[in-house]
Amino acid sequence: MKLHNSGLPISFLNGKLISTKEIDFQPVQARKFKEIKGYLQNKNSSSKLRNVYLMFRDVHFKKDGQKFRKNNLRYDITVIFPALFGKEFSKTIGHNHKPFRLKSFQAPEIYEVLSGEALFLFQNIKKKEAYLIKAQKGEKVIVPFDCGHVTINLTNKILIVSNIFASNIKSDYNFFKKHRGAAFYILKEKTGIFIEKNPLYKEKINLKIRNPKKEALELPSKKSLYELFVKTPEKFAFLTQPEKFKKQLSPKNLFSAS
Ligand SMILES: [Fe+2]
Repeated sequence: MKLHNSGLPISFLNGKLISTKEIDFQPVQARKFKEIKGYLQNKNSSSKLRNVYLMFRDVHFKKDGQKFRKNNLRYDITVIFPALFGKEFSKTIGHNHKPFRLKSFQAPEIYEVLSGEALFLFQNIKKKEAYLIKAQKGEKVIVPFDCGHVTINLTNKILIVSNIFASNIKSDYNFFKKHRGAAFYILKEKTGIFIEKNPLYKEKINLKIRNPKKEALELPSKKSLYELFVKTPEKFAFLTQPEKFKKQLSPKNLFSAS
């Protein structure tokens, strides 16, 4: 599967990211089914899949390496295989971002769908809010200010997303582990897709279904995330200085009503 729409000469084939010599990335990390069991609606579900998703971190043209380092950013690719675990669609386990520079909020992140169709779940438990955002190939979606997130594959095709994120901030899986996933599980029922509240979240959480707004944070929708970063790295300052972009990073400014 060619992924040239990413702006990079890369393909995904037989579980591997194929590239030319001009491209560099870290060794693949795989999230195994046995690791994600604790984050599922049904912990007794089984799967033929050994690996649920693959993470290729820090993918870049060697010539662009310094630009990413200078801006403290990283470009990653995640491949989520299609599957049903019990009734639940294949997904990432979900995480929060470790608090930003010891302040009490989480940094945002930006995604682009390279292949397939993604459903992003964002949750801000302090505000008792969650969002479901569906995105097609080529669409960009920004994780709002102070949200944890999960990426879900609702289809029977491989989902491939890229993201840019601050290279010095770690993902924190503890909250999602303790709560067995996000505040909502996305399930396949005979009648269609069903959203089930996770009973381990005791608070009432307001779930909103939204669409990604085109050109949020003035990022042109026609260029790939990678090309945009290389051409205009200054436009990605919201990822490393989110406190200056709090308003632009609100769900109201990032998403539109369906
Ligand atoms: Fe993240």
